[in-house]
Amino acid sequence: MSDWIEVCALEDVPAGGARRLHAGGAVIALIRPEAERVFALEDRCPHKGGPLSEGIVAADRVACPLHGQCVDLASGMMIAPDEGRVRTFGVRVEAGRIWLRRAELAAPKAHACELAT
Ligand code: FES
Repeated sequence: MSDWIEVCALEDVPAGGARRLHAGGAVIALIRPEAERVFALEDRCPHKGGPLSEGIVAADRVACPLHGQCVDLASGMMIAPDEGRVRTFGVRVEAGRIWLRRAELAAPKAHACELAT
């Protein structure tokens, strides 16, 4: 069994934007700041739970849609002076598809992955 699980096409996530993904019991924000780079974070702001998949993506951070606090996409850390951290997931892009690290998902089965509309 592969260490990675294919979740969707790269084109399913708009460049400069994000999509919400239900994967293996987790709700994940797939965030694509640039054409070939994608980050995967728990879709829950460390501040008060805002949906990061609905935030504004700029450079390597996302601004939460509720109160505007920013999260670093690579580390999941809030940008100072704010504090907190959101869980991040291993992600890779290959041949136009997005893959998540299987071991980080609670129920890592392909049929358990679904993009929100
Ligand atoms: S809930 Fe995200 S900044 Fe407040």
